[in-house]
Amino acid sequence: MTTTFEQIEAELTTLSRDAQSIVSQTKTLDELERLRVFYLGKKGQLSQILRNMGKISNEDRPHIGQTANDVKDTLESLLNQRLEHLQSQQIESQLLAETLDVTMPGVSRPLGHIHPLNQMIDRILDIFVGLGYSVASGPQVETDYYNFAALNIPEDHPARDMQDTFFFSDGRLLRTHTSPVQIRYMEKHQPPIRIVAPGRVYRRDTVDATHSAVFHQVEILLVDQGVTFADLRGTIKVFLSEIFGSDLPVRFRASYFPFTEPSAEVDIEWKGEWLEVLGCGMVDPSVLEAVGYDPEIYTGFAAGFGVERFAMVLHQIDDIRRLYNSDLRFLRQF
Ligand code: DAH
Repeated sequence: MTTTFEQIEAELTTLSRDAQSIVSQTKTLDELERLRVFYLGKKGQLSQILRNMGKISNEDRPHIGQTANDVKDTLESLLNQRLEHLQSQQIESQLLAETLDVTMPGVSRPLGHIHPLNQMIDRILDIFVGLGYSVASGPQVETDYYNFAALNIPEDHPARDMQDTFFFSDGRLLRTHTSPVQIRYMEKHQPPIRIVAPGRVYRRDTVDATHSAVFHQVEILLVDQGVTFADLRGTIKVFLSEIFGSDLPVRFRASYFPFTEPSAEVDIEWKGEWLEVLGCGMVDPSVLEAVGYDPEIYTGFAAGFGVERFAMVLHQIDDIRRLYNSDLRFLRQF
């Protein structure tokens, strides 16, 4: 079979027409790339047709060449147009899929915060650490010695009564105050010492608006040479003003604690009333002796107070149980 000029010309025209309709229907970039190879690749349709160029007369060849070039140009621009079209379509659908609706309502994550009692403890610790005190702690299960005897609390003292203290059958007990931390710390350290000791304490109290069987205290202890009651007063006044406000009226009342001599109770004037907030005094010489300090050389002061009471006065909380009930309506206020 001979190949004529007309035949090739016709094949080229058909190729061009078919390709145009097929390319214009391409849906994907992959498909389009396959078509580019199919028509214009090295072994593509166009090359196949032009393989027979050799069989054409010299005078017809330029004409065919021209037609082939035109077909090639047409197909190339067609493929490129389609390419651009498909690419922009792809970008558009991608944009559409990734659209962020900035007017959508937000999803709020619940955020926890520190319990008012712990906030109170943190504030108290901050103040004393700022004054150069170290934070100390001790066990909640104590012996009679640390909770009572070493603190000069006599055998027949009412605090030792079963009414007030939770005892274990082996004679140990749940500490009724943070004062045993004084003894434990002094046993292990030599003066000068300055400590602030927060902790949980236990009493066999009937629970009501102002009493809880479990509550929190903070203990203060400073021992050095030449410490006087004036140092105690100054420290307590600075501390209470930091918590309750700078012009706070503070009153020291003579009182009694077995482990301090002299002892005092401290009142603040708050909303027109005197409120007792703290017990304190100069460390009793017999307590210093119990830990091996020489009371002729060293003197010291101590103080102890309830954290719940501070929080209740400061935040006008009318019932101590609110601090333990985990009612979010209450807790969210702090
Ligand atoms: N431990 C006493 C109590 O629980 C409070 C107290 C009073 C502590 C006077 C002290 C102090 O350190 O000096 O009632």
